[in-house]
Amino acid sequence: MPVRTETPVYRPDLYSASAIRDPYPHYAALRALGPVVRLRKHKVHALPRYAECRQVLLDEATFVSSDGVALNPVANRVGQGTTLFSDGEDHTRRRSLLARGLTPRALRTMKDVVDQRAAATVEAALARGSVDGVEVAAALPLSVVPDLVGWPREGREHLLRWAGATFNALGPLNGRTLRTLPASLGMLRYTRGIVRSRSVSDGSLGHALLAASEGGRIMPAECATLMIDYLAPSLDTTISAISSALHLFATHPEQWRLLKEDPDLVRNAVNEVVRYASPIRAFSRVAVHDTDIAGTAVPAGSRVLLLYGSANRDPLAWDDPDSFDIRRDAARQLGFGVGVHGCVGQGLARMETSAILHALIARVDRIEVAGPPRWALNNIIHGLEHLPLRLVPA
Ligand code: HEM
Repeated sequence: MPVRTETPVYRPDLYSASAIRDPYPHYAALRALGPVVRLRKHKVHALPRYAECRQVLLDEATFVSSDGVALNPVANRVGQGTTLFSDGEDHTRRRSLLARGLTPRALRTMKDVVDQRAAATVEAALARGSVDGVEVAAALPLSVVPDLVGWPREGREHLLRWAGATFNALGPLNGRTLRTLPASLGMLRYTRGIVRSRSVSDGSLGHALLAASEGGRIMPAECATLMIDYLAPSLDTTISAISSALHLFATHPEQWRLLKEDPDLVRNAVNEVVRYASPIRAFSRVAVHDTDIAGTAVPAGSRVLLLYGSANRDPLAWDDPDSFDIRRDAARQLGFGVGVHGCVGQGLARMETSAILHALIARVDRIEVAGPPRWALNNIIHGLEHLPLRLVPA
């Protein structure tokens, strides 16, 4: 295939407030321009289609993460030492430490507690009747991972703000990044304090990280970043998936009936929610040598933006991609990424989202929208900030 050196250019800002609230017309316009599109404002090659996103994610030798996956140089420096921002042996070592607490066997030991907490969350919501679906969605992620990491009780009230700021900081250097960067650095400072005072609970994953540091298997400084690796990506992402599920089932009552009639569809439904709503909009990689993507030249040093949210709605990869249908097999969706950096916490995220859906199926007849939803303004997370709902008991 001849290599094209002219790349189509897209001028609108994908990180403007309006594009964050409704990115889908932008994604459609980008996909129509071609497989590789230059974003003028952010000086990156964007990949809006499924095939090229998947190809780059699976080629970690050419497209590396150790120059950071954010769109600004400050975050790409501050995030050094995390699993997400590493390659090769460093990445394997860090990831295996994280993965230990998230293996299928480790998850099985947590299942009963997660199911009980999901049931209690849904029962409390039903007792109120009218609820903010985002608050309902937040309850489980906010209790599960902090307990798993052994995070002290005090300081938990800041976690959501800190984690949201950590995602914001991975966008371009816009006002939203600059305003939230101090909170993101605050999380790092606080976590370093926890490591110094060893104030994590015994037997927790945080405790295992401290032991690994004392045993010389990780550097002491890595302890704090690895703890943040567990916490920061586990909150807004899962909250977004659960609140999107609530919103989608409230606005697609025929899909809710299908799920009620056949709870075995929960597994499919989780994939379809993550495909349709893609909690993480995009991360980037850097090409280490001259290469091409779908016949477009990509010079060494180019930053490439993987638009997960767009790939998951690409009509070249999906039939009728803008319809929400839990009968579709959406297992190959890219909302959790794929390849060596594919989400290490996806088993837990799937478990939490499934637990809430099963708890709803058992107790709720209908989920109704009770007012206009509001989308959160975050550079990376696509999710709701407010979702008025009425839950009608079964
Ligand atoms: C619905 C919920 C979630 C979504 C949509 C999601 C999405 C993603 C995506 C797209 C990536 C790949 C990034 C890349 O390759 O550039 C990723 C990586 C990661 N996720 Fe998740 N995630 C979710 C939940 C979680 C949870 C619950 C945890 C922790 C318990 C977690 C921890 C991580 C970590 C540590 C990485 C980096 C893995 C690596 O670099 O090897 N995530 N996630």
